[in-house]
Amino acid sequence: MAGSTLEIKNLHVSIEDKEILKGVNLTIKGGEFHAVMGPNGTGKSTLASAIMGHPKYEVTEGSILLDGEDVLEMEVDERARAGLFLAMQYPSEISGVTTSDFLRSSINARRAEGDEIPLMKFIKEMDEALDYLEIDKNMAQRYLNEGFSGGEKKRNEILQLMLLKPEIAILDEIDSGLDIDALKVVSKGINKLRDENFGCLIITHYQRLLNYITPDVVHVMMQGRVVKSGGPELAQRLEAEGYDWIKEELGIEDETVEQNA
Ligand SMILES: Nc1ncnc2c1ncn2[C@@H]1O[C@H](COP(=O)(O)OP(=O)(O)OP(=O)(O)O)[C@@H](O)[C@H]1O
Ligand SMILES: [Mg+2]
Repeated sequence: MAGSTLEIKNLHVSIEDKEILKGVNLTIKGGEFHAVMGPNGTGKSTLASAIMGHPKYEVTEGSILLDGEDVLEMEVDERARAGLFLAMQYPSEISGVTTSDFLRSSINARRAEGDEIPLMKFIKEMDEALDYLEIDKNMAQRYLNEGFSGGEKKRNEILQLMLLKPEIAILDEIDSGLDIDALKVVSKGINKLRDENFGCLIITHYQRLLNYITPDVVHVMMQGRVVKSGGPELAQRLEAEGYDWIKEELGIEDETVEQNA
């Protein structure tokens, strides 16, 4: 079988005893690009955090399987080693660790002990990726995300993605705050990874990104669930008409999690 499969079944997640996700079902296979859209506060980032194992998010019901292995049993670092990757909506700044050191240790964490990436090979790969993403070489020697502009942080997430080559990536609003040229560069980076061994979940508010990265499936989240799925035309309809028609169709009065907790 080519690539990995991430299977999310009936996922319920609570934060401080408040239920945010209420039965999410979603399967991403190697080679597939899925977009997740949905109004603010409907649980999209919570889904991303729960998949990566953020300690604040308690899974109360359901399962997450990566090629049949129970992801919920894995620590955060084990999830990364198993091939999961999250680009966060708000990337953290890590003072004292350069981008380059961070990248190298992340790559090595996914390799067996004694099989660390040779330094020259790492530098070559990093330089190529920096070039490809039109990132200034000096950035790699700066502390991770510290003082980076919004757009620089997002480009940096894609740099990590390109070098780490995960099996399944979750990109939470990777397009937010990007200028038009940066949006193209970031999309180019993501598209370069498209092959049967790479599956991707792209959380976004805008069809604009999906003009550059064509999704195979588009999902809409409301009230902490996936309430509708379709092809790329679904994103186009949302761009043109907003979400009201879905709410009407499904009899949803308030789409947020907050009002339905
Ligand atoms: N750590 C937290 N503590 C308290 N409430 C939280 C926490 N994380 C999420 N929530 C709540 O869960 C709900 C869903 O939040 P989430 O960030 O998943 O929404 P979202 O769909 O990503 O929204 P947006 O499009 O604005 O990014 C919100 O009501 C939010 O306030
Ligand atoms: Mg969010």
